[in-house]
Amino acid sequence: MWNVFQHLRQATFPLYLGVDIGTTSIKAVEVKQGEKLPAVLNYGMLELGGYLLRANNALQTSTLKIFEEEAAELLKILVGRMKPRAREAVASLPAFAAFTTVLDFPAMTPEELKKTIAFQAKEYIPQPLSEVAIDWLKVGEFTDEKGFRHDQILLISVSREHIKRYQRLFKLAGLTLRALEIEPLSLARLLTSGDPTLTLLVDVGSRSTSIAFAVRGELRFVSQSDFAGASLTQALAQGLNINPLRAEELKRERGISRAGQGYELSTIMLPFLDAIINEVKKAQFSYGSQFPGAPQPERMVLTGGGANLMGLEAYMEKEMGMPVVKAAPFARFEHVHEIEPLAPEVGPVLAVALGLAMREFI
Ligand SMILES: Nc1ncnc2c1ncn2[C@@H]1O[C@H](COP(=O)(O)OP(=O)(O)OP(=O)(O)O)[C@@H](O)[C@H]1O
Ligand SMILES: [Mg+2]
Repeated sequence: MWNVFQHLRQATFPLYLGVDIGTTSIKAVEVKQGEKLPAVLNYGMLELGGYLLRANNALQTSTLKIFEEEAAELLKILVGRMKPRAREAVASLPAFAAFTTVLDFPAMTPEELKKTIAFQAKEYIPQPLSEVAIDWLKVGEFTDEKGFRHDQILLISVSREHIKRYQRLFKLAGLTLRALEIEPLSLARLLTSGDPTLTLLVDVGSRSTSIAFAVRGELRFVSQSDFAGASLTQALAQGLNINPLRAEELKRERGISRAGQGYELSTIMLPFLDAIINEVKKAQFSYGSQFPGAPQPERMVLTGGGANLMGLEAYMEKEMGMPVVKAAPFARFEHVHEIEPLAPEVGPVLAVALGLAMREFI
């Protein structure tokens, strides 16, 4: 996605690692070309348990600081365990590390557009242009009441410092960073390629929930919320006055339910889930005003560790009034059948990493 990496794009070694460095865990998948589809050879996940006790010990924080040494160390451990043959990696930047906005331009040729965006970007991006890498994609078009055509462009900017950090991080782990992209792009490719249904992609991570609108593998709109998995754990720890590790266990064991044993836990967690749902509804509203007349999403696909919260799909479905499913990304890859029993739980967690690796095979 970033021009800095364009020269690396010739295929020498058709075997790649998709690496998702989250706030509290690193996930990687190794993918090669299979007979018909890309094939998953190997995957690995490393969770940072200590983050629950020391809130600022997360790998990434919303203030954009990535704890480089720790992340490099963990990436090295993960790679050491996976022993991949691939040396080239594709990695993601969390949505909060990027600034994104949708802009209207009069319809023009791609060349003209490039010049116009380069000229106008400084008005929209909150950092000096010399400090950021910019990318954009067309996400819509419309004809105004005077009959003029407009293109709608999703502008994405990421600080160069952030990109450099990632390059160093991968180098330290003995890998070459082939490309970097924002997470919603990987999810859009993975979960909507070839599908004409506008889909809401909601990734419930630890520190943030990313909300994306996508169709046919392409991103249309992105948004983000700071309510996520960790909000639920914290609520339980405080509400029940227990330690966060125990709260995390309870959350994973019981999930949410409206009756029985899980009821008390649910009443503590539901306000935070409702906060996530409100952000999704707000995003729908913003999408509707950015793209008047465009169809609204018809279904929701959940990813991230938070997607494994028991009872979440049913709750979301009722609150959102649309079908909600957990992502099942292994269906898009050849894989050994030993993965099958684990796939329902592991698939949503590996979604970003799988979407990243997929980029090299379409
Ligand atoms: N079975 C489960 N039930 C409920 N929550 C779960 C379950 N498994 C994992 N989680 C939650 O998922 C979150 C971690 O998800 P994930 O690995 O996608 O996050 P991350 O990528 O590190 O974070 P972020 O995307 O915010 O940077 C944690 O909050 C964890 O509590
Ligand atoms: Mg994540």
